[in-house]
Amino acid sequence: MKVRIFESSQEATHEAAALFIEQIQRKPDCVLGLATGSTPIKLYKELILAYKEGTISFKRVKTFNLDEYVGLDRLHTQSYYRFMCEQLFDHVDIDKRNCHVPNGQAKNIEREVMQYEAAIEAAGGIDMQLLGIGGNGHIGFNEPGCNLDCGTHLESLTRQTIQDNARLFFNGNEAQVPRQALTMGVGTILRARRCVLLAFGKSKQVAVQGMIEGPITKNNPASVLQRHPDTVVLLDTLAAEKLKKKG
Ligand code: F6R
Repeated sequence: MKVRIFESSQEATHEAAALFIEQIQRKPDCVLGLATGSTPIKLYKELILAYKEGTISFKRVKTFNLDEYVGLDRLHTQSYYRFMCEQLFDHVDIDKRNCHVPNGQAKNIEREVMQYEAAIEAAGGIDMQLLGIGGNGHIGFNEPGCNLDCGTHLESLTRQTIQDNARLFFNGNEAQVPRQALTMGVGTILRARRCVLLAFGKSKQVAVQGMIEGPITKNNPASVLQRHPDTVVLLDTLAAEKLKKKG
């Protein structure tokens, strides 16, 4: 795990954007794993800018998102599919048929998760996976206590995640946050050839310290990235504050 600490989240985001731009330039038909949440929004803005400047094209890029709420129509204002359209897909030349987000309304969840894994494999696997981290150490929606080997699956959200996401996406109304989500598993994430994890701010300090310096434990699912051969963690100084070793 390579850890880099930046003065500001803007600088860390800029570095992440450079990694994604370089990936797309090197392999124009690459497969990207994408994340939602507040952390990657500015990164997506940088990628849109790079597209508008003609530095990259998404024409042949395929994407797989980490997760989606169960029960939300994909055009629901809070669905992750809609989030991705608004933050990235609608602003670049990507073919929407190449944009994959788990179907939270699938009637047969078992089949949906198997097909999602199969689609990732058929695309050749994920070249670069973008990750954020929850205040409780979750990656995707793999919550503390999860199975560290599994593929895409149905997960129940913890109280902390429901509260965090209500604040960000549901106008603070916890009752509206779905209680379950479909998520790539930790096993799926570990199969990505490269992972780029971004974490900013005070609320991520404990999770970040555990991920980097703690034992590999299902209590902090992100800690399993210590086992991944090519993970880059980009932090701002605030998120890095509890690290014992800073360089
Ligand atoms: C989103 C996802 C989550 C978020 C995490 C951090 O697709 O998989 O693991 O990355 O909850 O969310 P923010 O960025 O809102 O702090």
